[in-house]
Amino acid sequence: MSPTTAIVRNQWYVAAYSQEIGRDLFARTICNEPLVFYRTEDGAVAALSDRCIHRRYPLSESRLVGDRVVCGYHGFTYDRTGACVAVPAQTRIPRSARVASYPVVEQDSFVWVWIGDRESADPAAIPRAPWLVQQGWTTIRGLETIRARHALLMDNLMDLSHETYLHGGYIGTPEVAETPITTEVDQAAGVVRVSRHMDDAECPPFYANSTGITGRITRWQDIEFQPPCLYRLHSRVAPQGNYPPEGYLPGHGADTDPGAFHTEIVYALTPETEHSVHDFWMVARDFAIDDQDVTDYLHKSNHTVVMQDVVALNLVEEVIAAEERAGGTYQELSINIDTGALAARRLIAELTRTEATRA
Ligand code: FES
Ligand SMILES: [Fe+2]
Repeated sequence: MSPTTAIVRNQWYVAAYSQEIGRDLFARTICNEPLVFYRTEDGAVAALSDRCIHRRYPLSESRLVGDRVVCGYHGFTYDRTGACVAVPAQTRIPRSARVASYPVVEQDSFVWVWIGDRESADPAAIPRAPWLVQQGWTTIRGLETIRARHALLMDNLMDLSHETYLHGGYIGTPEVAETPITTEVDQAAGVVRVSRHMDDAECPPFYANSTGITGRITRWQDIEFQPPCLYRLHSRVAPQGNYPPEGYLPGHGADTDPGAFHTEIVYALTPETEHSVHDFWMVARDFAIDDQDVTDYLHKSNHTVVMQDVVALNLVEEVIAAEERAGGTYQELSINIDTGALAARRLIAELTRTEATRA
């Protein structure tokens, strides 16, 4: 069986970076829904269906007047709730003249959107990534839309042993693939944790060039993924032998671990369609935060790494989608490195089941 193409709709998804949404109409497809986003005059973000109710013209190709969208084809005018407030050549507005609007929350530099049943949208359930907006951290970020199903990006991020092969010379060293992982599922929180603690490891260029460490390192990777969207990799790098002190909490930077370099690698995985996924990627660091050269280097380097994943996932999707169409009977073969990805898939399957029973 291939990884699922199912999309869980009753979830919060990152739709955009806050900085992407302004006073221009902005189109993005999330979970198969073409959406248009804009900022109202009071600074809030509105999300509407990107299809005019009249003849389906994309509202994103239209005009924003105050807080209203005026369709670029025949002028149907919608307010921020999606209600049609004006139509051309008549005063009576048909009762069904409205487009869907979607709940939006801005948090931690993201615009989160809820596509499913409106009454289930609880903003308190949105996972956090505080470093992206916190003092003492600097973040680089980017976005790639991959022609691969969401589950393939999840597989990729949950198993970092691929760093050694796909990302050698950037973030991969032999120790990443050699060191066993521990996997733990927090069922109540809906979180999968995967940890790999490397000792006496080679320092990959990504960290050598950004931290200035010249010798071997102690390198910890602690992943916390809350399916389906927010992935956080707490990365700790220190000169060899510099272990975390008692009480070290991954994700708390120097507060519980003053002697190391911390990088918070954050991904938001948002399905665009069944066969494509938005890959929002960020790297926040708590060292050399004002050093533009380090910022530029990390951006370039991480972009290269992300593109290596993009190329690989596009290939895998092509292969498995073709096999599915041909009715293939391929059976995946999983090993220990896949326990995190399999746990994440199980959580997604549970979310899908819960959604199906509610529908
Ligand atoms: S398609 Fe929008 S007004 Fe006609
Ligand atoms: Fe990768």
